[in-house]
Amino acid sequence: MLAYCGLCFCMNIVILGSTGVIGKALVKQYQKENCIEASRKAVSPNIELDLSDFESILCFLKKLEHHKIDILFLNAATTRKEETKDHMEYSFMVNAFSMYYIAKHFTIYHKECRIVFTSSIRILHAKQKIQSKTISSAYRNTKLLAHLLLAHLQEEDPFAQIGFFHPGIVASKLSLSLHHRWVQFLIRHFGNSLEHVVEGALLAAEATKVKGNWVCPKGVFGLKGKPVLKKVNRSMVLDQKVKQYVIEKEKELEKKYGISCVRL
Ligand SMILES: NC(=O)c1ccc[n+]([C@@H]2O[C@H](COP(=O)([O-])OP(=O)(O)OC[C@H]3O[C@@H](n4cnc5c(N)ncnc54)[C@H](OP(=O)(O)O)[C@@H]3O)[C@@H](O)[C@H]2O)c1
Repeated sequence: MLAYCGLCFCMNIVILGSTGVIGKALVKQYQKENCIEASRKAVSPNIELDLSDFESILCFLKKLEHHKIDILFLNAATTRKEETKDHMEYSFMVNAFSMYYIAKHFTIYHKECRIVFTSSIRILHAKQKIQSKTISSAYRNTKLLAHLLLAHLQEEDPFAQIGFFHPGIVASKLSLSLHHRWVQFLIRHFGNSLEHVVEGALLAAEATKVKGNWVCPKGVFGLKGKPVLKKVNRSMVLDQKVKQYVIEKEKELEKKYGISCVRL
């Protein structure tokens, strides 16, 4: 049975990637609210969610169907590079497609909900590619695609409330897997503080109507420091071929599982 606060004044907060370093800091921040952690390791009353598996995403959405959600944190990501059971590139599925699909569902069925996406400064040097050669390029390219797909949803739906934030650099399984040992040392010792990361996430949750902007640390090349809201300094136009690919994948998966986003 899902822990759900319908009778008290607690907010209902859903956190994806809640088992990670940033996710745990968000869970701690919202310990006085009703926090629903969605993860692969979920133990009831939280929700099980494997973002590489479309069927699992559908179950997750179904379980939240009749609940009022106040904030959704799209905070999970991976650097894995293989094929999913639905024959999609793993990092594209987890980092981009699933983020887009869940956000789209929320803009339709949880209209009041604010959505906060954990982006990355790496998108400034990324390309709009679904298949990438290295782990590092796959990560930055799929984070860019997620950011653009969510910005596109925000553009298309005047009621969508989507905030974007780059947390800075923080030592985690994910960030360390993208760097050599000496950089890992620097990240461990000089990375951004979790207080600033959480502050950035909260600021992004307040700025869900500000288009073309994101929350980013002020200092040291956007890697650490106090979070500020600023313009994303790159072209944010979604490639038409990517958009078409995503629409086709969406149709294909919905057909395979006999479901439609508007008929869950
Ligand atoms: N750390 C940084 O420097 C940094 C910088 C920029 C952006 N970010 C972003 O911050 C977010 C959180 O990353 P983090 O640094 O906290 O990394 P982390 O500690 O490695 O956490 C990653 C989270 O993603 C979850 N995840 C991965 N694959 C999943 C899947 N298939 N299904 C469901 N959940 C899955 C992990 O769950 P499991 O426990 O099940 O593996 C974990 O909770 C990510 O979106 C990342 O892109 C981080």
